[in-house]
Amino acid sequence: MNLLEIRNLSVTYRSGADEVRAVDGIDLDVDTGEVVGLAGESGCGKSTLALAVAQLLPRGAQVSADRMQLGATDLLTVDDHGLRRLRWSRLSMVFQGAMNGFNPVMPVGAQIAEAIRTHRPDIGKREIRTRVAELLGEVGIAAGRAADYPHQFSGGMKQRAMIAMALACDPELVIADEPTTALDVMTQAQILELIRRLADELDLAMLVISHDLMVLGELCDRAAVMYAGRIVERGQADEVLTHTAVTGPAHPYTRQLLACFPQPGAGAASISGIPGSPPDLAHPPDGCRFCARCEVALPECAAEVPALRPVAAGTTHVAACHRVASDTTLALKVAR
Ligand SMILES: Nc1ncnc2c1ncn2[C@@H]1O[C@H](COP(=O)(O)OP(=O)(O)OP(=O)(O)O)[C@@H](O)[C@H]1O
Ligand SMILES: [Mg+2]
Repeated sequence: MNLLEIRNLSVTYRSGADEVRAVDGIDLDVDTGEVVGLAGESGCGKSTLALAVAQLLPRGAQVSADRMQLGATDLLTVDDHGLRRLRWSRLSMVFQGAMNGFNPVMPVGAQIAEAIRTHRPDIGKREIRTRVAELLGEVGIAAGRAADYPHQFSGGMKQRAMIAMALACDPELVIADEPTTALDVMTQAQILELIRRLADELDLAMLVISHDLMVLGELCDRAAVMYAGRIVERGQADEVLTHTAVTGPAHPYTRQLLACFPQPGAGAASISGIPGSPPDLAHPPDGCRFCARCEVALPECAAEVPALRPVAAGTTHVAACHRVASDTTLALKVAR
């Protein structure tokens, strides 16, 4: 059984007179020891999905699902007491833009210690100090830096310290929302390496959100691509996110998104953007939500919502596109 199991999750925000369904009927699993990536353009609902799992959505957001389970805990019915026991110790989150989330007037080590003290009142002072040093060591920061203030840390160090904080109470699931955004390429690579090593060594389940497909392709075991509140493609990360894989991405959105990133060996002229913009989620179109921007749309695409269907026999790779054959023995690839 998967550690995190989500079935048919929807989240609706109220925005004036409108209802915005930011997440619309999503299925997603994350298992122990596995890094799962969630990709998609800005506004497609990635953070909303993460906040729904962590039960941190703003008041007024409506959640519905057939199932949202973390191990034996039903996240749909958990009460406040259960939530307090769950957060940090079983599920923790590195928030989008979190590296700026440290209190500027408190040493970094003291902030990590406070997180431990709040959630594990049973642990003594000396043990907490040892744990803080151990956590900083795990993310490659010398224990002596615990007394430093956040402004004495570089951006990459702050992000690593945030990851250390998320690990403070030995969670089973860590959700990292854009953990490498705003970092330079070298620092980004170090953070990715760190996340991968922690997931393997600590046998964590990790859900990593990023709009950067290159990042997710390198880091993740499995990946899902969201568009306008829905998952449009899902499978092993190398199948979904790399051009060189045997199957490769099947959904035109994933293909066009991937084309927005420079490919090794290709000239700068090959980089392109996706013309148009995602639909207004308060008034989403019928049929496939990518239809208006799709280079290979068929007449039925505007009318019928495509279901997630197998892309190739013998794999878990699925895509929601009318171009993908429903015949599981044949992978009908969309023309590039
Ligand atoms: N508190 C809120 N109230 C109303 N609408 C919201 C709220 N938060 C998000 N939304 C809307 O929900 C949709 C999804 O937003 P979300 O932040 O989940 O996207 P995202 O994929 O994380 O984007 P980004 O990559 O920019 O972080 C957007 O249309 C956004 O405007
Ligand atoms: Mg976000």
